[in-house]
Amino acid sequence: MSTYSTPVLTTQRLVLRPLTHQDAPALFAVFSDPAVVRYWSADPWTDISFAETAIARAMESYRDETDIRFAIELAETGELIGTVNLHHFFNQNNRCELGYALGSPHWGKGYATEAIAAALEHGFHAAKLNRVEADIDPRNSASAKVLEKLGFRKEGYMPQRWLVHGQYADTVNYGLLRSYWEERSAGGGAA
Ligand SMILES: CC(C)(COP(=O)(O)OP(=O)(O)OC[C@H]1O[C@@H](n2cnc3c(N)ncnc32)[C@H](O)[C@@H]1OP(=O)(O)O)[C@@H](O)C(=O)NCCC(=O)NCCS
Repeated sequence: MSTYSTPVLTTQRLVLRPLTHQDAPALFAVFSDPAVVRYWSADPWTDISFAETAIARAMESYRDETDIRFAIELAETGELIGTVNLHHFFNQNNRCELGYALGSPHWGKGYATEAIAAALEHGFHAAKLNRVEADIDPRNSASAKVLEKLGFRKEGYMPQRWLVHGQYADTVNYGLLRSYWEERSAGGGAA
């Protein structure tokens, strides 16, 4: 059975690394912002204990090597600006799901694309994945753009899958195969 460790990865502008207990205030700042959870079936965090619980869960997954959960840090300042996760692994099928979020002051600078590309490169090579899935709200245009820039393909549509802040919301299903990723890399597909 495969196991999934969370290493430190570096990109041009970012460091991806495991979360630590010291990250609670910065993580709370990201997920207490209503704009960040606008399309999620979860309310903004209202107390730092939410961040502490999320970090404790991440620590468990590091210990058991069940999920790959990165803090995204700006290389220049060391500021935590978001997270990217490969989770819900189906070991037998070399498949998992992708999740990501950045603090709103950092949107629109290409950081999500850069961070997710590094996580995927790790997933397809070190973790030997064959397929990564993402599920997004069709109104979340920035998220769709990021996935499409990375080579994900639209595969499905599921109406009223989530209850998002009191309203049912649809899902667009995206998938990325290792073969798409390799084709994109061979074509010089920079993020
Ligand atoms: C989705 C998210 C991660 C994108 O992060 P980001 O760092 O701004 O993404 P990038 O800068 O790498 O790329 C965003 C792309 O979307 C485009 N974009 C941004 N807002 C857009 C909008 N409203 N409509 C269409 N495109 C949009 C940008 O122009 C950019 O494309 P470009 O490089 O061709 O110019 C960020 O908005 C976020 O954290 N949102 C809240 C959490 C979330 O929704 N997570 C995803 C859940 S599935």
